[in-house]
Amino acid sequence: MKKRILSVFGTRPEAIKMAPLVKEISGRADLEGLVCISGQHKEMLEQVMTCFNIHADYDLAIMKQNQTLYDITCNVIREMEKVLSAAKPDVVLVHGDTTTSYAAAVAAFYRQIPVGHVEAGLRTYNLNSPFPEEFNRQSIGLIAKYHFAPTAWAKQNLINERKNPSDVYVTGNTVIDALHMTVEKDFMHPLLDFTGNDRLILVTAHRRENLGAKMEEMFQAILRIATDFHDVKVVFPIHKNPAVREIADRIFSDCSKIKLCEPLNPFDFHNIMNRAYIVLTDSGGLQEEAPAFGVPVFVMRDTTERPEAISAGTAKLVGTEAETIYREVSRVLDDASEYQKMSLAQNPFGDGRAAVRITDILMNRL
Ligand code: UD1
Ligand code: UDP
Repeated sequence: MKKRILSVFGTRPEAIKMAPLVKEISGRADLEGLVCISGQHKEMLEQVMTCFNIHADYDLAIMKQNQTLYDITCNVIREMEKVLSAAKPDVVLVHGDTTTSYAAAVAAFYRQIPVGHVEAGLRTYNLNSPFPEEFNRQSIGLIAKYHFAPTAWAKQNLINERKNPSDVYVTGNTVIDALHMTVEKDFMHPLLDFTGNDRLILVTAHRRENLGAKMEEMFQAILRIATDFHDVKVVFPIHKNPAVREIADRIFSDCSKIKLCEPLNPFDFHNIMNRAYIVLTDSGGLQEEAPAFGVPVFVMRDTTERPEAISAGTAKLVGTEAETIYREVSRVLDDASEYQKMSLAQNPFGDGRAAVRITDILMNRL
């Protein structure tokens, strides 16, 4: 009998990073791959499903505007009970640290179905930062039987937490596999026409703990950078969260050097990042992608669970205060040798074969 693997995800980044794995599993004759989407994200998830041509066998369709953590957690756990009864998987795969992943892991645990955690072992050990993701990933770590750590550092965190070393694997991050599926040499896009010969700063922001005053500070710094540097243009595909949109519209609407746009599909986004001069973000995934392109990334957060990019030299943690962000970014915009140092650093997140490794391990273990 074929072993049945149910992959569960619900947000844009999970879908991008699970896509290579879903594809790899579906190509193995001894495995039956099933996909369940929670629909924690809607439009932003659909973009990824279309881009990677992935079909969902189950859709919990839970998203509502301004959803709370209670909404997501309760709805996913309740709906997953039905999916697990119907699908009867041998293993449930979840990714990273979203509330979909946490709730799906809990639902599998209640049925005593083994959980495989993809992108396991990332830690800040600060439950408030990022919130609620640090809690989510530590909780999934408690439940999971198989831990797929992207790096040796992540593996060590899990070993320090007394996980069984024989259940912890260093696989690389599947995001690098995804980049191998999206990035093209000859890429054209109207947003690149907007940038022209100027230096492109690519911006994203969405973290729950940054919404409000911190995000205002972040955006004020970006406005000042765009105004002060004559050869810089900013492209900011805005997250669908209305709370982010309100602040961005208010602060950026009068600046012609800043282009706000709808979220881009991963194909366009990755190719535009490949051509960016620098990235400014509070995102998790961009801290892995930018180093893969050799694009310096300024992380507008107080903590990071991805210190590898900082050690490698491609990423800088700059917090959320306008003055610090402006100073750090200006230094690199002003100084070509500082820029070179950051852009020549090595990508520490893998070789693009993480999905193959994870699937091989599952074939052996199931
Ligand atoms: C979620 C994850 C976060 C992850 C991020 C990736 C949790 C608690 N948070 O945060 O870890 O980094 O996704 O982007 O799991 N919305 C839409 N359409 C969409 C997506 C979102 O309208 O396609 C709006 C809705 O109003 C929704 C709001 O954005 O209520 C926030 O979405 P939500 O998933 O709750 O939080 P994120 O900040 O996206
Ligand atoms: N991304 C995208 N389109 C966009 C912005 C981001 O496809 O307009 C991709 C990006 O390449 C990365 C992922 O979305 O793979 C990051 O998602 P997000 O920042 O929403 O979440 P996080 O990584 O912080 O959990």
